[in-house]
Amino acid sequence: MRRLMRAFFAATLGSACSSASTRAVVPTGDDGSDHGARSHDHEHAGRHEGHGVGGAHHAFADADAWTKVFDDPGRDAWQHPDDVLRALDLTPTMTVADVGAGTGYFAVRLALAVPRGEVIATDVEPDMVRFLNERARRVHLPNLRAIRATPTASGLAAGSVDRILVVHVWHHLADRVDFARDLSAALRPGGKLFVVDFGLTARRGPPTNLRVTPEAVIAELAAAGMAAKVSPIALPDQYLIEAHRP
Ligand SMILES: C[S@@+](CC[C@H](N)C(=O)[O-])C[C@H]1O[C@@H](n2cnc3c(N)ncnc32)[C@H](O)[C@@H]1O
Repeated sequence: MRRLMRAFFAATLGSACSSASTRAVVPTGDDGSDHGARSHDHEHAGRHEGHGVGGAHHAFADADAWTKVFDDPGRDAWQHPDDVLRALDLTPTMTVADVGAGTGYFAVRLALAVPRGEVIATDVEPDMVRFLNERARRVHLPNLRAIRATPTASGLAAGSVDRILVVHVWHHLADRVDFARDLSAALRPGGKLFVVDFGLTARRGPPTNLRVTPEAVIAELAAAGMAAKVSPIALPDQYLIEAHRP
């Protein structure tokens, strides 16, 4: 725990906040006991400039380290993944995209929920893609595959998916309206996009100045031509926004 906190402070107060730095900072601790405020603060180590701009910092480069944070079993208590999946209203044959899937906390759950469908997990970090494809093989989920995205393009084909889930990624994006346009184009008719991120008053998440309010997300989705609203399914410390192409 202490090591994780030290790494976090070194990253956020030191080199990682300097635009001159390209040093990657990843969790080195074994902080399985507290996935709450600390680990999700820590998530942002090295990324305070926003990693949508060219991916220079690669703060999420080490998937084997990040899985200890993202897949910490303690996460379920505040993440409420079942509520997120309930909001998505999945049917077994759907094609679902998990954008910015990381190590697959949601992608694996989604793949189990669409046994006769498919989950396409995207990430800008090659090591996340490697990790998640290996994980899919290890846990025998042939309907889950990970693909490499770029900071500005999801890599999803136009009109190819029924649901898109974007968890704790929105605040990392450089041009969110453009990105929303790309995601909107990937939806099939009747498809829906869901954005989960930390609210301004959340007890965990990135520093407040880096957070994006739900109102801003809704406005960005509207600017991309989507109709968006806060979901009636509430999550602790996070908002859940659902959007569709009118
Ligand atoms: C905080 S992690 C969240 C991971 C996962 N969604 C979860 O909830 O566990 C953010 C992830 O988004 C990825 N990412 C950032 N910008 C992205 C982009 N433009 N497209 C795809 N992935 C992106 C990062 O590499 C990282 O794996």
